[in-house]
Amino acid sequence: MQSTWNRVDQYFKARLLGRDSIQEQTLKTNAQAALPPIDVSALQGQFLYMLVKMMSAENVLEIGTLGGYSTIWMARALPENGRLISIEISDKNASIARENIHRAGLDSKVEVRVGRALEVLEQLRTEQNRLFDFIFIDADKANTANYFRQALGLSRLGTVIVVDNVVRRGEIIESRIDDPSCQGVRELFDFLEDKKTICSTAIQTVGIKGHDGFLMARIEGDDEELG
Ligand code: DHB
Ligand code: MG
Repeated sequence: MQSTWNRVDQYFKARLLGRDSIQEQTLKTNAQAALPPIDVSALQGQFLYMLVKMMSAENVLEIGTLGGYSTIWMARALPENGRLISIEISDKNASIARENIHRAGLDSKVEVRVGRALEVLEQLRTEQNRLFDFIFIDADKANTANYFRQALGLSRLGTVIVVDNVVRRGEIIESRIDDPSCQGVRELFDFLEDKKTICSTAIQTVGIKGHDGFLMARIEGDDEELG
């Protein structure tokens, strides 16, 4: 099955996406630096681009930069005055990401902040008027629920939060799997259960990233701890 998923993804990519020499170079740079190839796919990147566009988002937050591949997809969708902050724990990854972001001509729109995401998120909360329209969570999975709860404090009514890798080949529903990554994602679903103020869905995906999925949440009420 995986080979069919791959070939269909290749077909979609060939038909729907043009050549993207900048992002090809991003992936090449990341591979040369031995970053793990766990970026979103190009088709998923275009999906994120379209979500940012559809929301007319001006302030975007990303948790987990890696080499900046998804960062570049989202930042490209921003208007002239738009800004994206991306949080990355590794100094090395951050400097590779900055190089890629520079090559993409997005220096003026993107800031990569290095640090433990829970600490950087706390720091962002102390900054005045720092609320985000769109938030993409794609960092260490064990902390997924913690990042989501923190992200609420940086959200307003209408903010959309997208979380990557919520299926993990179906591990999410296997009770015997007690690894921290699965538990972190499950904790998020437990948190969202019966939350009437957050409209959520989760969509499974197959493709070059295997069997996985996104969660999407929209903040619709203010009894959460909003920013
Ligand atoms: C892994 C992380 C990701 O963000 C992803 O999209 C796929 C895999 C991982 O840590 O294995
Ligand atoms: Mg991911």
